[in-house]
This record gives sequence, structure tokens and C-alpha cells, in this order.
Amino acid sequence: MSETGVPDEVVTACLRAAAAAPSVHNTQPWLFRVGVDAVDVLVDRSRRLAVLDPDGREMLVSIGAAVFNLRVAFGAAGRRTSVRRMPDDADPDLAARVTIGAAGRPARAAQALAAAVPGRHTNRRPFADRRVPFVTMEELRGAAAMEGASLVEIGPELRDGVLALTRTAETRLRSDPAYRAELAAWTTASSVGRDDGLPRHVIGPRGRDGALPLRDLGTGLGPSAGAVEFESDPILLLLFTPGDTPEHWIRAGEALERVWLTATVRGLAVTPMSQLTEISAMRDLLTDSAAHSVPQTVLRIGYPLWPAMASPRRPLAELVVTNPPPASR
Ligand SMILES: Cc1cc2nc3c(=O)[nH]c(=O)nc-3n(C[C@H](O)[C@H](O)[C@H](O)COP(=O)(O)O)c2cc1C
Repeated sequence: MSETGVPDEVVTACLRAAAAAPSVHNTQPWLFRVGVDAVDVLVDRSRRLAVLDPDGREMLVSIGAAVFNLRVAFGAAGRRTSVRRMPDDADPDLAARVTIGAAGRPARAAQALAAAVPGRHTNRRPFADRRVPFVTMEELRGAAAMEGASLVEIGPELRDGVLALTRTAETRLRSDPAYRAELAAWTTASSVGRDDGLPRHVIGPRGRDGALPLRDLGTGLGPSAGAVEFESDPILLLLFTPGDTPEHWIRAGEALERVWLTATVRGLAVTPMSQLTEISAMRDLLTDSAAHSVPQTVLRIGYPLWPAMASPRRPLAELVVTNPPPASR
């Protein structure tokens, strides 16, 4: 990056961190363009889930998570960043421009979060029946707030309702042959020869009593391993943004990833359970326009009984584009 003096190997490491971000069905819908003082994060629309995500909301949430990883990796390398989301009305594929500031001292908080990036995975396996300390919950809420979002723990009085809605959403989605076909196209028996999507080894076991409606990812893979016991009191969080524009979706992804990396630092595991946000009537039900809060995803958190498995990533060479050259700020 000629104008910033950031060495190429540092830029490469930051792009790798961005590419390690979570994305819906592991679609990795991002491309990166390195300019003289900024990295552009572009949308690869060929990777949008046409059935599940017709508006591209979850695609942009995924992009936001990559933007956050990019920010935190540059922060850990001693560079402040400033972000413009959807900066060019004429170019809707330019999701964010991350401009690199002057060199400074690496921020300790950014270093801790950046160090957590390689070990952050989706854990779809059982969690311990153990409460999360109040201070840690506060830290997670604070992480969301720093990104302009809010994270709300679903208390015992509402939890059964949210689980029931999620179960209904899951049944509705799965009853659609187009949904099942799309999911099957993104799930694979193994990651051999495939660097995106969900290989069988990342898909967790079935719950014994079906009480926890995690997304059933195994539809295209035939019979799964036997059923196991999951935690009896799952801890569920709802992530809200103050609006519902593409810019809010990107910010939701940044908040999701700050929360997720903070949880990782604290030894917590995370599973997004987004099904109810994918049925518009259910999303509307949980939207409070007067209070400016729109649900973007549901997260299950807890202390893992088993470690999560890593999912594959596309090589950087496929993600870095050079044309057309970035316009200057
Ligand atoms: C917007 C979004 C929605 C997601 N929804 C779900 C979900 O409903 N169920 C699930 O098991 N995983 C969900 N995930 C997790 C992705 O499947 C996961 O990030 C991806 O497969 C990459 O794996 P990794 O997180 O282990 O790196 C979601 C991720 C994102 C970013």
C-alpha cells in the first residue's frame, strides 16, 4: 500500500483475517481490492443465496463480519482505520472502503480480538449447563453497542417463545424444495476439493429430544450420527440494529463479529440460529420501529463441551481483485 507504508505481508495477513470471517452457509461472498491507502470490500453477488436471502441481507451481514476482521487486524498492526459503508451510490457492489490511517501503537484490545480470529469457529455441538457471568454478558452487550447495535439476552419468560418461532421457521424453510436444494448445494460430504460451503465435519449431532432447533444442515448428506444431549437451558441472544438498510446490515455483521470474537476470548462458543430472521412475518413481529430496533440474528452462546471444527476458506488469490483500480478518497 504505497501511501501508507504498510508492508505487503501485513496487508496479506489482514486480508487473510478478513477471509476467516463467518458467512451464511460459508458462502464467503467477498472480494478485496487493495488501493494506495484503502482496502475496498466488494460483494461477490454470484455467492448470494437466492432462495434464503433474496434481499442479500445475510450476504451483507457476512461482509460486515469480514470488514470487522479487517479493521481489527489493521488495529493490531498499529493502524487506525476509518470505514465508509456503501460509499458509492453508483456502485452497490462496493460494500465498504476501509481507509488506513497513520501508524501508531497497536491497540491492546484489537490485539486480543485479532488473536482470536483463527480460533473462532461456529460450534454446533452441545454446550455445558453453566451460566455466563454477568460481567461477561455485559462485555458482550458492550461489544455490540460499540458497533452501533444492541444485544439482548432472551430471558426465561421469552425463551420458549423464541425457540418455538425458530422451530416453526426451520420447518417452514425445510418444507420448500428450493431451500433444500440450495442448502444441499452448499453442504458437502467432505472439504476435499471444495473450499467453501459446509463439510459434514462442521455439522453437529442431532439433539436427543429436538428441544434446540439448530438449523438442520444435513439434509443433503444422508443419515447423521446418533442423537446426543444438548444443554437444557440454552442461552440465546438477539442482535438488533437501529434500522434495516444495507448499511445497517454491514454494521450488524461488524457487531456480530465483535461479539463473537469477544466471546471467543472469554472461552465461549457461538452458534447463529438465524432461521426466524429469514421469515419476514417473524422478523416483523420482533421489530419495534418506534424503538428503532430490527432483529438481525439470534445467537446461542455457552461453554463448549467439545471444540468446534474449522471450515474451509477460499485461497486469497481468488479473493483479491485489481480491476477497476480504486478511485481515490
Ligand atoms: C449472517 C449469518 C447467518 C448464519 N446463520 C447460521 C445458522 O442459522 N445456523 C448455523 O448453524 N450457522 C449459521 N451461520 C454460521 C455459518 O454457517 C458459518 O459462519 C460458516 O459456515 C463458516 O464457518 P465458521 O463460522 O466456523 O468459520 C451464520 C453465519 C452468518 C454470518
